[in-house]
Amino acid sequence: MDYEFQCIGRRAAIGLGLCFALAPRPASAQTDAARERPKEGDLLVAATAAAAPEPLSPDDLPLDGKQTLAWPIDPESKTVRNGSRLNKVLLLRLDPEGFDPETKERAADGVVGYSAICPHTGCDVTNWHPDRRLLECPCHYSIYDPKEAAKVLSGPAPRRLPALPLKIADGKLAVAKPFIGRPGFQQM
Ligand code: FES
Repeated sequence: MDYEFQCIGRRAAIGLGLCFALAPRPASAQTDAARERPKEGDLLVAATAAAAPEPLSPDDLPLDGKQTLAWPIDPESKTVRNGSRLNKVLLLRLDPEGFDPETKERAADGVVGYSAICPHTGCDVTNWHPDRRLLECPCHYSIYDPKEAAKVLSGPAPRRLPALPLKIADGKLAVAKPFIGRPGFQQM
């Protein structure tokens, strides 16, 4: 079942950020291209982009800098797949020195892609520690290592962030394969 959800309490002083599942979408809505999960060949556009977003290339991302949140876009229909939060991706351009073998295989020109949705209770993973090159969820501070397939180093997250393998197509970042792992979090 595919749930949409919303989050409250992000960065609350006592770390009580929570996300709540809303009603499951009707089956007919699942066919909407904007809600379909990223597909091979999709390009990526910044989540903050305006009406006519330009697909991202590796040079658009700061080397070893903070993650860029992005949506997949169908290159044919130009449909931005932002109809589901579960399609939100985080992109990082890193020096590939130190990538483990599976991360190396999934990266394109040093750019790695992961689901932006924390598998704990579904907050966006928006914090970046440049000194150690680690991702952090701002709600309950789970730490992920993007150089090692986003494995969990600490915090309550029950599993790593799903990876989105990337490739380069005409100089732009493109999806090489669907998510490895299911984006979202487990309903209790
Ligand atoms: S939502 Fe709890 S650690 Fe991310």
